[in-house]
Amino acid sequence: MSVLPRAAIIGIGICLPTRILSNQNLEQMVETNDEWITERTGIKERRIAAAEEATVDLAERAARQALKRARVRAEELDLIILATATPDRFVPPAACLVQHRLGAKNAFAFDLNAACSGFLYGLVVGSQFINSRSSRYILVIGAETLSRIVDWSDRNTCVLFGDGAGAAVLGPAKDKEGLLSFYMRSDGSGEDLLQVPAGGSRLPASHQTVAEGLHFIKMKGNEIFKLAVRAMVSSADQALAKAGLTRADIDWVVPHQANLRIIWAMTQRLEVDRSKVVITLDHHGNTSAASIPLALAEGIERGDLKKDQIILLTGFGAGLTWGSAVLRL
Ligand SMILES: CC(C)(COP(=O)(O)OP(=O)(O)OC[C@H]1O[C@@H](n2cnc3c(N)ncnc32)[C@H](O)[C@@H]1OP(=O)(O)O)[C@@H](O)C(=O)NCCC(=O)NCCS
Repeated sequence: MSVLPRAAIIGIGICLPTRILSNQNLEQMVETNDEWITERTGIKERRIAAAEEATVDLAERAARQALKRARVRAEELDLIILATATPDRFVPPAACLVQHRLGAKNAFAFDLNAACSGFLYGLVVGSQFINSRSSRYILVIGAETLSRIVDWSDRNTCVLFGDGAGAAVLGPAKDKEGLLSFYMRSDGSGEDLLQVPAGGSRLPASHQTVAEGLHFIKMKGNEIFKLAVRAMVSSADQALAKAGLTRADIDWVVPHQANLRIIWAMTQRLEVDRSKVVITLDHHGNTSAASIPLALAEGIERGDLKKDQIILLTGFGAGLTWGSAVLRL
C-alpha cells in the first residue's frame, strides 16, 4: 500500500518594512507610555509599511526569499495561498498579483482570510494538495499591513499591531519531517469581538462610515484574551493527540504573537517551559497572519529551531478562528 506524501516546509522567507515605530514614538501620538505597553503586552516596537508599500509588496519579497531558500523556481509552483486580512484591494485577489510578479505561471492563486490564524489555515489547506498528490510545490504566505486599518488615535488598539510578511514553500516530505497533525476551529458567534465594521457588503464605505471611523479595527481585548488562551491550549492538546504525541514531546512552541501575557498563560497551562517558546512580538508587535511564519523563520535563523525537532504552531484570531499544528522540522 502506498503511503500518501506528507507536506513539509522546505524553505521560509520573511519581509519586514524598514520603518520602526517604538513605544516612545507612540507616546507622542496617543495617551500611552512605554511602561504600560511593555507590561500589558510585551511589545516594544513594531514595523510600519512605507506609504508606497502594500501587502503584495511585502508578500512578494517574503516569497522570493522562501523560494530561493527552498531552491524552487516560481514556475514550479502549483498553488499560491496568500493569507491576509489586509489585501491591497478587495478585487482582484492579492494572491494573483503575487503570482504574476513572481512569474509563477503554472500556479493558481487565491486569498484566504482567517485573520490572525490565516497562516495556520493556509498551511493546512496547502498541505492537502500535497497529501492528495495533486500539487508538488505550494507557496503559503501570511502578509499584512494592519497599519492601514488601525485607528492611530485609539490607544486600545494602535499600540498592538505591526506590518510584515512570512512565506513558506511546501513540498513533499522526503523523510520523517513535515506536518504531522492539525486541529482547526472557527466560531462566528464571536464576530463582534474583533472586527472592521464598515467597507464590506453589510455596511459599504460612505462618507458617514469614514467620518465615524468604522473602517478601522474595533476590538474587545479583554474577552479575546481569555478565549485565546483556552482556544490555543485545547487545540494544542487535540493536535498533539492526533500526532500520537504528548506535551512533553514539544521542543518548541511558535505561537501567534499577540500579547506576551496571553502566550505565558497558554504555555503555563500547557506546562511548557518559557525557554521553549519563540518570542518575536517585542520587536514585531501583532502582525496577524504574518506572525507565525515570521516567528518560525526567526527561530530557525537564531539556530534555536533545528531539524527533527517537534514544533507546535498555535494561534487564534478574529472570526473567531483558532487552531494548532504539529510540525517536525
Ligand atoms: C488589549 C489589551 C492589551 C488590554 O490589556 P488589559 O490588561 O486587558 O487592559 P484593559 O483593557 O483592562 O485596560 C486597562 C486600562 O488601561 C487603559 N489602556 C488601554 N490601552 C492603553 C494604552 N495603550 N496605554 C495606556 N493605557 C491604556 C484602558 O483604557 C483601561 O483604563 P481604565 O481602567 O481607566 O478604563 C489586552 O486585553 C489584550 O492584548 N487582549 C487581546 C487582544 C488581542 O490579542 N487581539 C488580537 C487578536 S489576534
